[in-house]
Amino acid sequence: MSGGTLIVGASQAGLQLAVSLRQLGDTEPITLVGEEVHPPYQRPPLSKDFLAGETDPESLALRAPSYYADAAIDLVSGECVTEVALSPSGPPGSGTATTSSGRGFAFDRLALTVGAGPRRLAVPGAELDGVRYLRDRDDAAALRQHLGSASRVVVVGGGFIGLEAAAVARALGKDVTVVEAADRLISRAVAPVVSEFYLRAHLRRGTRVLLSAGVAGFEGVQGRVTGVRLGDGTTLPADLVLVGVGVLPRTELARRLGLECDRGIVVDGRARTSDPHIVAAGDCTVQPHPVTGLGRVRLESVQNAVAQATAAAASLLGRPAPQPAVPWFWSYQGDLKLQIAGLSGGYDQHVVRGEPDSERFSVLYYRQGELLAIDAVNSPADYMAVRKALAQGATVPAGAAGDHGTPLKSLLTARPAAVPSS
Ligand code: NAI
Repeated sequence: MSGGTLIVGASQAGLQLAVSLRQLGDTEPITLVGEEVHPPYQRPPLSKDFLAGETDPESLALRAPSYYADAAIDLVSGECVTEVALSPSGPPGSGTATTSSGRGFAFDRLALTVGAGPRRLAVPGAELDGVRYLRDRDDAAALRQHLGSASRVVVVGGGFIGLEAAAVARALGKDVTVVEAADRLISRAVAPVVSEFYLRAHLRRGTRVLLSAGVAGFEGVQGRVTGVRLGDGTTLPADLVLVGVGVLPRTELARRLGLECDRGIVVDGRARTSDPHIVAAGDCTVQPHPVTGLGRVRLESVQNAVAQATAAAASLLGRPAPQPAVPWFWSYQGDLKLQIAGLSGGYDQHVVRGEPDSERFSVLYYRQGELLAIDAVNSPADYMAVRKALAQGATVPAGAAGDHGTPLKSLLTARPAAVPSS
């Protein structure tokens, strides 16, 4: 194969990188290699409508089948890149890659968009039939089929995957128990007040939730799971177990290339790895905080995959970096629509707008009076107002934000200028 750009990983970030290269006028060959047999597709519905049986597989596709040929993007599906080597004598960043089936690809430029894989629970019984994970389309299709005949579902992990899937299973009338190791739900992403709301809301819908509960193992009969044994010795009967205990970024290829990794492939604000000729984007990366530039964060979201891939394409072509983007996320758990804008990490004050148990409220986060983020539940107008404020460098004064009767957008004000230090 001739050179051009090789993009390893054909999901949201990989596809966006290819699209952005073409949009920026790149006419060199682009090869997009993905290990899944399916062309790039949307993952967010996998734990929501697709799992509920409300969406068919074809509608998940990110692009029409004809797009790839039209854009001269060579999509290679069902091939896993296992080896990558840079050329010692060629131009910087050029090299060759090999797949597990032995196919070789020469490249002038390399992009890693390899994503993350589900963290596995290493406990006795983990291999039993009926203990499942949810990351890709095939996982979701198998889980959906299994859900049809299951009656007792145990979900291990009360994060995004676990709670979205629990909501689907409960809406289908299943007996559902969520087992969460931490002392609150979704602790990675939201503040305690929002965790408490989700606990109460899931309980109201008839889902059992066990907090601070560890899984000691899975029990089974004739190779099929029959129960989940907890750390305190009790066993929860189950004929289907979904494990959603977080993800591990895939750093193997990056490590082999000698790239810096630190709980993800380390990239700068322009998606360049520690070898500036190689870019990486999406769930596999850690990057400087997109707003403060301080510390490193790993952002597992569609928005980040798209923004970083767009920046990566610009870096590969030596173009100016796009404007930094405000991070945003969403999680639809049945009829509970959580929208998040900004990053609340490090907040020292929060303001609750509305009554959480009304199932329509939002929480604004501040640090030293500066607006950081919002978690909005069934409150899209609040979410949009804060996302706009963050994008424009504006703020919503904390003292006024709690008045639920006043639309947030009417409270947007310019951020006070920093007092110059003498
Ligand atoms: P997560 O990090 O959101 O949640 C994992 C949960 O499992 C945490 O609450 C953690 O405390 C708990 N946990 C860890 N070890 C445990 C154990 N041994 N026993 C019981 N609980 C344990 O990760 P999750 O839900 O697996 O999601 C995986 C990926 O999918 C993430 O990248 C997530 O961002 C993404 N995703 C995002 C969605 C969204 O943005 N709406 C929706 C679904 C998935």
